[in-house]
Amino acid sequence: MECFEVTGGTALTGRVRVTGAKNSALKLMAAALLAAGRTTIDEVPDILDVAIMSEVLRRLGCEVTYERHAQGGGGRVVVDVPDKPDTETDYDLVRRMRASISVLGPLVARCGSARVALPGGDAIGSRGLDMHISGLERLGATIESEHGFLVATAPRLVGTSIWLDFPSVGATENLVMAAVLAQGTTVVDNAAREPEIVDLCAMLAGMGAQIDGAGTSTITVEGVPALRPVTYTTVPDRIVAGTWAIGAVMTRGDVVIERAVPDHLTVALAKLADAGAHVEPVDGGLRVAMDGRPRCVDVVTLPYPGFPTDLQPMAVALAAVSTGTALITENVFEGRFMFVNELVRLGASVRTDGHHAVVRGRERLSSAPVLATDIRAGAGLVLAGLVSDGVTEVQDVHHVDRGYPDFVEQLRGLGARIERVERPG
Ligand code: UD1
Repeated sequence: MECFEVTGGTALTGRVRVTGAKNSALKLMAAALLAAGRTTIDEVPDILDVAIMSEVLRRLGCEVTYERHAQGGGGRVVVDVPDKPDTETDYDLVRRMRASISVLGPLVARCGSARVALPGGDAIGSRGLDMHISGLERLGATIESEHGFLVATAPRLVGTSIWLDFPSVGATENLVMAAVLAQGTTVVDNAAREPEIVDLCAMLAGMGAQIDGAGTSTITVEGVPALRPVTYTTVPDRIVAGTWAIGAVMTRGDVVIERAVPDHLTVALAKLADAGAHVEPVDGGLRVAMDGRPRCVDVVTLPYPGFPTDLQPMAVALAAVSTGTALITENVFEGRFMFVNELVRLGASVRTDGHHAVVRGRERLSSAPVLATDIRAGAGLVLAGLVSDGVTEVQDVHHVDRGYPDFVEQLRGLGARIERVERPG
């Protein structure tokens, strides 16, 4: 078992570079399936989830290579897609990474069928697929569930209007990727507006797709008969950038986050400014600095452009060492407060009730062994360890490795005292 040993008491200072967004790169790789030939995607983070998506694509018959850049945690992926991809994605891969289901839309659109294993349970909530399924059915696919697989068939998809009950990121992406090769016009209403959706639509446009309204709640897709491969660069990771920004404030440090896009973090940065931080866009990135103890600020997670649910654990950790009391409300994923019990082990004063958490700030936390329950919870616990007395051992760090390239190295580059250690499992 690998753990992080975090010694508290140092401020994060210096410069850190952010590579492409995990949540975009995985979908861009799936989108490569829409055209035969070599698609090249740059600034793809060197993380476990990218390795899993590469394996998903290999089993569909693609050749996938990853060439890491010398610095910055990113690299270039080349996906060579055959004329006739295979259409089955197994449970062993989908179980390891839920985002594997984003091959569903491209496969149905391009091959007329797909068999993708159902993801099953998830540590941060039920995460249904109902909107993916009903949207594909509206486009003309027949979808059945058999032996743990979703089986979709559609000799030809036909454009239609789709209204999502909730602006789901994954459903919006799957439906747009299906609609680009459908016959006629598709309108997706109440679509997700995340920068990763805009990124996916920009890559699809580069492949020859006709898409209007990416980044708004109404996306219109005019189907085309075929797409071509493309060379594309992934949008910078706003969640990784936000993690470093919150870390700078919690540890009362001063960090320049290269390649961070302030416009993708508007609400989160406004919250940090309310907490007393100095937040300043700089050439090619963002500077966040903090003098003295932060103030508690209330946070409500919402679909973009609201405060991102993926930064909620870091927001709770920040409030835990701020002055005053904060109310944190989680509106996107049920069960995302599970990690709070771990934070309480570090001496944080947090009470949860349904989708609310009341956090009473303390001057410092006190180190203890804690368990990373998912990617972002793990990152939040490490930030908490940086402001705890003594040495905090964060266990199950494979979760963190799924989302943060060179996590330990990047933190050490900012002056943190953190080691990766092996423990008997
Ligand atoms: C993506 C991100 C994840 C982020 C989330 C919200 C990836 C790989 N993951 O997840 O990091 O936290 O967006 O910003 O990109 N839902 C349904 N039915 C559906 C689809 C979703 O009920 O058909 C529900 C989910 O259970 C959840 C909510 O909608 O409660 C949001 O899910 P969604 O936006 O789809 O998130 P993901 O795409 O899974």
